[in-house]
Amino acid sequence: MAKSDAERIEELRSEIDRHNYLYYVMAAPEIDDREYDRLFSELVELEKKHPELATPESPTQRVGGEPLEGFENVAHEIPMLSIDNTYNADELREFDARTKRFLGGVEQFDYVVELKIDGVAATVVYEDGALVLGATRGDGVTGDDITANIRTIAAVPLRLSAREDGVVIPPRLEARGEIYMTKAELRRLNDTREKQGQAPFANPRNATAGTLKLLDPRQCAERRLSAFFYGLGAYEGRELSHHHEVLDTLAALGLPVNPERRRLSSIDEVIEFAEQWAERRHALPYEIDGLVVKVDSVRLQRELGRTARAPRSMIAYKYPAAQAASKVLGIRVQVGKTGVLTPVADLEPVQLAGTTVKRATLHNFDEIERKDVRVGDRVRLEKAGEIIPKVLAVIDTAREGRGAKFTPPVECPACGGPVEKDPDEVYIRCGSLDCPAQIKERLRYFASRAAMDIEGLGPAVIDQLVDGGLVADPADLYSLEAAELEKLERMGEKSSENLVKAIDESKSRGLERLLAGLTVRHVGSTMATMLAQHFANLDRLMAARVEELVEIRDVGEEVAGSIVQFFESGHNRRVIEKLKEAGVTTRARTERAVGGAFEGKSFVFTGALRQMTRDEGQEMVRKLGGIATSSVSSKTDFVVAGEKAGSKLDKARNLGVKVISEDEFRAMAGER
Ligand code: IVH
Repeated sequence: MAKSDAERIEELRSEIDRHNYLYYVMAAPEIDDREYDRLFSELVELEKKHPELATPESPTQRVGGEPLEGFENVAHEIPMLSIDNTYNADELREFDARTKRFLGGVEQFDYVVELKIDGVAATVVYEDGALVLGATRGDGVTGDDITANIRTIAAVPLRLSAREDGVVIPPRLEARGEIYMTKAELRRLNDTREKQGQAPFANPRNATAGTLKLLDPRQCAERRLSAFFYGLGAYEGRELSHHHEVLDTLAALGLPVNPERRRLSSIDEVIEFAEQWAERRHALPYEIDGLVVKVDSVRLQRELGRTARAPRSMIAYKYPAAQAASKVLGIRVQVGKTGVLTPVADLEPVQLAGTTVKRATLHNFDEIERKDVRVGDRVRLEKAGEIIPKVLAVIDTAREGRGAKFTPPVECPACGGPVEKDPDEVYIRCGSLDCPAQIKERLRYFASRAAMDIEGLGPAVIDQLVDGGLVADPADLYSLEAAELEKLERMGEKSSENLVKAIDESKSRGLERLLAGLTVRHVGSTMATMLAQHFANLDRLMAARVEELVEIRDVGEEVAGSIVQFFESGHNRRVIEKLKEAGVTTRARTERAVGGAFEGKSFVFTGALRQMTRDEGQEMVRKLGGIATSSVSSKTDFVVAGEKAGSKLDKARNLGVKVISEDEFRAMAGER
């Protein structure tokens, strides 16, 4: 009897799921890409013929659905913690000793060691085997609902399946893991971006984070992310008494689990394993930044418990930053948002920590002079984490026929205006107010997440707006019309409308964000929030004199001077007038309570707290009329010290600032 289309569809779906599993989980594909594509197209055709048989779990549904307006928040049922770091064998031994001490030192236990994948933490929830939610870590308590994007990742099964005998699909399972991008995919993506004039991603982690933030799942699907899972969140199912069983179970359910995991019975074996991977890791197709060492027994994990930040039963072991060598092809000067000129070395492309590096920062002109970097030199480069690579030193200083020493520019490379050097600073600046390079950088910052968060206003659009004379300051953004935007390159009707909407929505962000976006020197987002809360509206801040400003905690002469100077400028005052006319809110969103128990008192939190996060503590301070700041000074009233408090605690002691415990703080706040 001939198979019905319905039967064939089912068969194709499980076949494709099985091949995905073989490819992503077992790393042992049975068929090649061509055969896979054939099965896939057959399924696509049959589903087209029978729309009534469509299901969200079909592998064809990974191409991505309609764009979203924004991400919803999701509260994590179990918080997503972090892990503490170690950097050498001694610190690993300390962790081992600490763990044994904590457990009373009687029991023998194993460790499970895993690779620490350099990507973005995520959590996925399966109910009765079906993927129902994918979320980012966020602040650990709430994250973004990125289900639509997670569904496009081929390595993440849309439904769980029992891949081994005796495995039962649990009614509810939350798997925690890392979404990542392979080195090859990052290269492919960056090549395309550079061709389109977009800035390349510095590393796979940034690329992954940027991709997961895309509101259009179809774009996310194009970037081919991958995933490894390494733990459980909420779980209802057969009890698992050891971490290695958790990992085996996740894999048996079809979730990708990194195969390079090991159960080891002593810290010496762990250290040996870590040493092996120091070299081997470069041959992996994805980036790792270290290993994670976990106590295997779930019972002991519970006994060890957690600090506010991290479980005591695990530790990360991080490898040092990667280095490479390359040749300087040229030295370019970039203009930043405050006019600072930064020299950048253009390099012969070189592989460094999984990415192709073509340029590196030289920081400032004094640095070039000190290191004596010249065009044609071979230099040593370093890249640590997110930071863009930097030039460490010249390798062949004794080389014959070296070129001339580099001479710092006397005019701005972007606008030709005169440059100035502050006598007590190492920076050289372009002093021109209408330097296009500065305008662009300032607009980028204004639109960034830390400031007005204008989705869709990226560098490519900003460049066109400034070059085309449509925008000369942030206030001009608010009079842009969709019809004007549509004329720009790569801007369609829909994206133009969306951008106008996003700009309009940014009007109500509040004084905190507006102030952060205005690029007042020395005013970052923390300072902006503090100023906004203190003055409540922009007019009051603009009227403040230096004497009044320095009364505020954390505001010194330098910051106060730069604030006053900023608002004295006729240009800046005109921009602010225009912003107000456009309807941009200049009032603070949150005001400090007046007359609370902490009225006028300032607090700094340091170290790991047990019962609340630092943010929660700061929020409590503000609600009671106090001031929460991040750095300790003689004006600080209290330092709340948690576990492992470091330099801030030392500073408080040196300055004679009162140090209190978390419990004392809570008692003062009337929490108990
Ligand atoms: S266990 C309580 N295992 O590293 C947190 N994390 O630096 C449990 N990561 O947020 C994490 N590979 O995103 C664990 N094999 C692995 C990991 C891993 C990468 C990430 C994870 C975590 C971060 C901490």
